[in-house]
Amino acid sequence: MNIVVVASECAPFCKTGGLGDVVGALPKALARRGHRVMVVIPRYGEYAEARDLGVRRRYRVAGQDSEVTYLHSYIDGVDFVFIEAPPFRHRHNDIYGGERLDVLKRMILFCKAAVEVPWYAPCGGTVYGDGNLVFIANDWHTALLPVYLKAYYRDNGLMQYARSVLVIHNIAHQGRGPVDDFFSFDLPEHYIDHFKLYDPVGGDHSNVFAAGLKMADRVVTVSSGYLWELKTLEGGWGLHDIINQNDWKLQGIVNGIDMSEWNPAVDVHLHSDGYTNYTFETLDTGKRQCKAALQRQLGLQVRDDVPLIGFIGRLDHQKGVDIIADAIHWIAGQDVQLVMLGTGRPDLEDLLRRCEAEHSDKVRAWVGFSVPMAHRITAGADVLLMPSRFEPCGLNQLYAMAYGTVPVVHAVGGLRDTVAPFDPFADAGLGWTFDRAEANRMIDALGHCLNTYRNYKESWRGLQARGMAQDLSWDHAAELYEDVLVKAKYQW
Ligand code: GLC
Repeated sequence: MNIVVVASECAPFCKTGGLGDVVGALPKALARRGHRVMVVIPRYGEYAEARDLGVRRRYRVAGQDSEVTYLHSYIDGVDFVFIEAPPFRHRHNDIYGGERLDVLKRMILFCKAAVEVPWYAPCGGTVYGDGNLVFIANDWHTALLPVYLKAYYRDNGLMQYARSVLVIHNIAHQGRGPVDDFFSFDLPEHYIDHFKLYDPVGGDHSNVFAAGLKMADRVVTVSSGYLWELKTLEGGWGLHDIINQNDWKLQGIVNGIDMSEWNPAVDVHLHSDGYTNYTFETLDTGKRQCKAALQRQLGLQVRDDVPLIGFIGRLDHQKGVDIIADAIHWIAGQDVQLVMLGTGRPDLEDLLRRCEAEHSDKVRAWVGFSVPMAHRITAGADVLLMPSRFEPCGLNQLYAMAYGTVPVVHAVGGLRDTVAPFDPFADAGLGWTFDRAEANRMIDALGHCLNTYRNYKESWRGLQARGMAQDLSWDHAAELYEDVLVKAKYQW
């Protein structure tokens, strides 16, 4: 099959979160299964050694023309096309920044340019047009692509065989705005009904995600648990009716992890500063060494017997780092160490700094975005805490398990799907879960976890072993995606 993955971010070129990781890894896994795969992203900065394809196109967005050029490179069996246009330039460190309307216009331009990429760029050596083509769009940023495809390319025969799949990584962002937004999209007038939505919060408004969900041939969510939540009033963020009406085309697929990046046996971030690579066979010595290196790097007491707890995540409402702060007195009252890594809302960054200042013997706040640090904490910590209020899939708990680090998570979305609660009687399960995103619930779960760490070494070892033995690679998820792509192509 010919697959074109279209997204606003893609690791390692530009990444703000899990979306970038997925777009960096899924295409490679699909290519390994024998498909011709292309990734299309904006060119926010200088990426790779990309070749200018020599195509110049102009697209009109809200009455203004932008000239677009296409750059191409071929990496790890995947063709990459970077779309270059003035609005994307110099955005590298702030890809979603700017006024709401500017962001919207960038996404319109990107989708208009991306849908035509198969005409201009070679994939697997040939320009393939629309023959056996399926687009995979991701989140609201590219939800206009299925709409343009339908309105301007399929219905009038320009790409009549192309199909689209839309992946929901996070429904909290939808491309909402006043109904007038619609006139920036350049769509036939009757399409307004696909965008127009009423809800008690936003009133009558225009909603890009809503239209994308309706126009896509299939929709994937990044876990089945999240799919279930999206159908509810609380979890659907205003789109639950649309989700329910389109139930037939939805499927949940848990993300994989990129085993060339996130594998303790080969992780390049464990090559220096006293860290070391390890496998399950060398877990005891390897993890102990990583833990000591982490404690040293953070200026914490170097002690193997003290449980080291990690948190890694964007500092926003979703990730619930404030819940950890609420529990900080209890945590600091235990014989533990805690390290929190992340950037985001300035007030939450300050909160983290305060936690460290008040408990500097035990707590470290690493305010910043650091890929090496994320790897080192994943390797060196004993426990990973994820009190996310909602979590469509969550990747850090998967990384943790692959590194023999035991997750303690709020049982929500993908976290519930991937972290089976520990059952001491059956010697089963992968970590601890708590059923409300509140400090006292988290304390309860963490308390059980610490007790097991200290007093039941065999059980702890079992948790680590089961976590590390899972096949969390993308190969499995890519197989499931393939199924969806086939359905998008042939069953509609
Ligand atoms: C979003 C979600 C996260 C998910 C990621 C990749 O960032 O919040 O749960 O893992 O997308 O799909």
